[in-house]
Amino acid sequence: MRCSKTFIPISALLAVSWCVVGFAGWDEAQLEREEALLLTPDLDSGKIVYEGCAVCHMPEGWGTPNGAYPQIAGQHHTVTIKQLADIRANNRDNPSMYPFAIPEEIGGVQSLADVAAYIETMKMTTATGKGDGTDLPYGENLYLDNCTECHGENGAGSANDAYPLIQGQHYHYVLRQLKWIKNGKRRNANTDMMKSIEQFGDREFKALADYISRMQPIEEKLSPNTWKDRR
Ligand code: HEC
Ligand code: HEC
Repeated sequence: MRCSKTFIPISALLAVSWCVVGFAGWDEAQLEREEALLLTPDLDSGKIVYEGCAVCHMPEGWGTPNGAYPQIAGQHHTVTIKQLADIRANNRDNPSMYPFAIPEEIGGVQSLADVAAYIETMKMTTATGKGDGTDLPYGENLYLDNCTECHGENGAGSANDAYPLIQGQHYHYVLRQLKWIKNGKRRNANTDMMKSIEQFGDREFKALADYISRMQPIEEKLSPNTWKDRR
């Protein structure tokens, strides 16, 4: 009896402290995000911050065609700010990038605003990793029925609503994100999107990722260079 009396308050205490720890990251990220969005970005400083990002995301921001690193060039600054704040607050697991994104390494909220603005000015490549091209009509139907409301017909997303631009993203990166959104590993995913992605399996993910990897950005967002022009 004595045991259950002490057990209840301790477990309640544990639950409370878990909640505090568990939710702290979301508040922290939300605050940093709101603050970053109010600042005036400095592109020159953003370019300097980006030097540390280039190691993985490549100097052009094109990532790698095997999808290990996403293309981030051209992404809406609102989206980049949210992802960086979430990664810094551990709301999105990214152990390899984490040490390169924390304030001790790149600076505080102003650096976030600066690098996000710089990334938005970078021009994209369409020479991205693609799927095998065997199920594209199915991918197109799924996309048009379930994804356009937020990501737009051509995958351009929306800067105002912080819906990511996903057009021309590397196939394997998109495939991984869709699986992680479904199994909850990507914890910061939009809940309405999760509802539609939950019903999908392997075939749907592959068809969607392949279709998305082939959507073309508008001319102004495209780089005139190719991988071969790299020095
Ligand atoms: C050590 C390698 C590494 C470095 C350095 C790095 N990143 Fe990343 N980054 C990654 C990986 C890997 C992912 C994808 C993680 C995943 O699959 O979920 C990623 C994802 C991202 C995303 C999310 C992309 C999306 O489409 O949601 C953003 C934004 C980003 N990085 C920005 C940056 C910025 C800005 C810097 C520099 C301050 C940086 N990264 C430095 C490895 C790195
Ligand atoms: C209700 C709006 C909404 C709908 C519908 C939606 N998404 Fe999303 N999607 C989002 C938001 C918001 C994010 C960014 C979530 C976050 O903050 O991490 C996102 C992120 C993504 C990402 C990760 C992007 C990146 O760069 O890492 C992919 C891939 C994606 N969505 C694909 C899809 C697909 C495929 C569909 C249709 C089956 C879909 N989404 C439907 C809102 C939506």
